[in-house]
Amino acid sequence: MSIKKTVLSAVLAGLIASPAMAWNEGGGEQDSALHLTPDRENGIEVYEVCSACHLLEGWGTEDGTFPQLAGQHFEVIIKQLADIRAGNRDNPTMYPFALESEIGGPQALADVAYYISQLPMNPDNGKGPWEEGTPEFEKGKKLYADNCVRCHGEQGEGMKDKFYPLIQGQHYKYIIRQFEWIRDGKRRNANPDMVKQIAEFSDEDMAYVINYVSRLSPPKDKVAPPGWQNPDFE
Ligand code: HEC
Ligand code: HEC
Repeated sequence: MSIKKTVLSAVLAGLIASPAMAWNEGGGEQDSALHLTPDRENGIEVYEVCSACHLLEGWGTEDGTFPQLAGQHFEVIIKQLADIRAGNRDNPTMYPFALESEIGGPQALADVAYYISQLPMNPDNGKGPWEEGTPEFEKGKKLYADNCVRCHGEQGEGMKDKFYPLIQGQHYKYIIRQFEWIRDGKRRNANPDMVKQIAEFSDEDMAYVINYVSRLSPPKDKVAPPGWQNPDFE
């Protein structure tokens, strides 16, 4: 696709999308992709485009520009991709690379989502400033127990059947940005119950709770050894 056309479709997607999106209407690509049998080999091929930003390991960047994708639930990845493609979640950087004309239809979504969900996770994600035992860590821990556990789980493992994302092991700076966007209504596909739950969070509370989240470790069998390199791209 030419640059001009790509930019034009990105602009149109922004214009057409209504500001108040239902957070999970389902249907369309999302439902089709969820019911297809994923082809891992094609997933590798599709993922090559993605790796330019999310890196070959799917680990994203500590500065939060690009999120870790590795280990996320298959269902969540499909929903987020379908939302981005449908213009329900703004992502102008990625949008042109995620289009059907670039990577393919629902089958490609299923393939790449499956591939990503099986990648081992970053053993050294970006953390917030406060270590376990500090008063700030403890405040974050309490805020998490009171406000987040019922949806994201004790260890930040999420709930795949409900499309609640896994948030353990994610980079602190990325989580801060998403949390702020969800709180302030900038992420249009956000879950309305989460928006309600965090509406009163001050910026300080936000930093405490995200610090805690960034220090929640995924189970050992989901994490790569330090220095692991993705053998599928040798
Ligand atoms: C040009 C860079 C770029 C490319 C290429 C790219 N992405 Fe992204 N992606 C991003 C950025 C930036 C974000 C975070 C946007 C934000 O902050 O909301 C993102 C977010 C995502 C998310 C949401 C993650 C979450 O935690 O909610 C998914 C899923 C995703 N990308 C998958 C893919 C897949 C699959 C491909 C390949 C088909 C791809 N990306 C290609 C830049 C890119
Ligand atoms: C009612 C359930 C619910 C509650 C309570 C909730 N969340 Fe969420 N959260 C969600 C859902 C659902 C999404 C994904 C929305 C979407 O599809 O874009 C989400 C998304 C997120 C994301 C973005 C993840 C990503 O990969 O982009 C972060 C970070 C997050 N939640 C953190 C929190 C924290 C921290 C709390 C507590 C202070 C919290 N949430 C409370 C349901 C909830």
